[in-house]
Amino acid sequence: PKNNLSRAKKGRNLQESCRYVSKAAPKTQVEFDYDGPSMKTSVPGTRSQVTHKQHVYSQNVGAINFFCNYDESRGNYLVDVDGNRMLDIYTQISSIPIGYNHPALLKLMSNPNNLSTLVNRPALGILPPENFPNKLTESLLSVAPSGMGRVQTMACGSCSNENAYKAMFIWYRNKERDVPGCPELSILSFMGAFHGRTMGCLATTHSKAIHKLDVPSFDWPIAPFPKLQYPLEEFSRENAQEEARCLEEVEDLIVKWRQKGKPVAGIVIEPIQAEGGDNHASPDFFRSLRNIACKHGCAFHVDEVQTGGGNTGKFWAHEHWGMDDPADIVSFSKKLLTGGYYHKDELQADKPYRIFNTWMGDPSKNLLLAEVLNVIRKENLLEEVTRSGKALINGLYELQAQYPGILSRARGQGTFCAIDICDDATRSSILLKARDKGVLLGGCGDRSIRFRPALVFKDYHVHIFLNIFNEVLAQHK
Ligand SMILES: Cc1ncc(COP(=O)(O)O)c(C=O)c1O
Repeated sequence: PKNNLSRAKKGRNLQESCRYVSKAAPKTQVEFDYDGPSMKTSVPGTRSQVTHKQHVYSQNVGAINFFCNYDESRGNYLVDVDGNRMLDIYTQISSIPIGYNHPALLKLMSNPNNLSTLVNRPALGILPPENFPNKLTESLLSVAPSGMGRVQTMACGSCSNENAYKAMFIWYRNKERDVPGCPELSILSFMGAFHGRTMGCLATTHSKAIHKLDVPSFDWPIAPFPKLQYPLEEFSRENAQEEARCLEEVEDLIVKWRQKGKPVAGIVIEPIQAEGGDNHASPDFFRSLRNIACKHGCAFHVDEVQTGGGNTGKFWAHEHWGMDDPADIVSFSKKLLTGGYYHKDELQADKPYRIFNTWMGDPSKNLLLAEVLNVIRKENLLEEVTRSGKALINGLYELQAQYPGILSRARGQGTFCAIDICDDATRSSILLKARDKGVLLGGCGDRSIRFRPALVFKDYHVHIFLNIFNEVLAQHK
């Protein structure tokens, strides 16, 4: 098709245009940023390796990439203990909202009035500080999804989902209370989904077998998630058929599990399946799914742990669906700094301690979040994300046309982008070579690379990335 041709044509000029852009673009558009990567060693460097050998106290040493110097890290750049400065397009598994050491956050932390919030971590469920309701209003409630006036804070993403599931079960049982006890209820999830690694969440996580190995699970229904063809606009007919097939299966499963005596109390879904390989579905798909949930009396839980916080170009990815009543529960964590979930009034548990743990979040994170939201508004960061997201996806289309043997299925919304690599071994090699050239990226799914920059990632950074990625790909040709 014409589009592909023009992409291919543009692709031939990429090297040139990138070189031009990185020379001509203003040095930096983020005040507290560095002006580019700077590499002294291969990563991990000697100091990282020595520290790694000393670090025998954790079960997770095998997962450690390298050790970091967070004092020296700034803006879009993560600095490691060997003095390597990398453009960070993975941002601590997508959890740094406005870059490292943002001056507004440093200022907030240096304010003596905030010291007691940092030093004393309360058991929020029983002894919250006086300013807690105000801080919630300033932070989480100021970005509450449409139709949701209540929020429950939690510590991490899994703990937010775990408690959101409980809230759905309690709500479901309250609708049809008969005998007390532990009922046979279920949550419907999707193939390729990731909702966390705790026991309940794990029962709805289906991204990689290793997460589930040896751990017992529930007999809960798992529906197919649409396998779409990209770019979406070129395959709308085929994709609509695929989505209709999945929706039909969802309804069949709901009926089947009701007949089995394990009715579906809730449906949980990510707006973009992230860990599972950046799988997208259309706004129509989500609107229909929302209607199916209503029709069958199931709560609808949208897991925005990875998509929430602005990198799709809207604060919540579900805003792209254009609905007044998008969900009954929306969970969050990562870029929101605190975990938790928003919910409708009906999903408020009827008695204290039914949804409860010791900390139930952390007020110091609400303090930081309120400031992060100020920065997002003041610096129009959602518009910036939309702008740099366009530059990023166009650059990926061009590279894909230039390296058809390596790259395929470029896709994204805002800067929440991904691209597939021909196989897992090539992906690993590309990730390591890019890192040694000063660009930090992450994988997802079987063979995708995902892009998860902070919200302060501008056009300028996109072009630095495209130049380096281009060099790395040329080595794999
Ligand atoms: C969509 C989604 N849900 C839940 C989780 C789990 O969050 P956490 O790792 O904070 O427990 C993640 C983590 O990556 C996620 O991407």
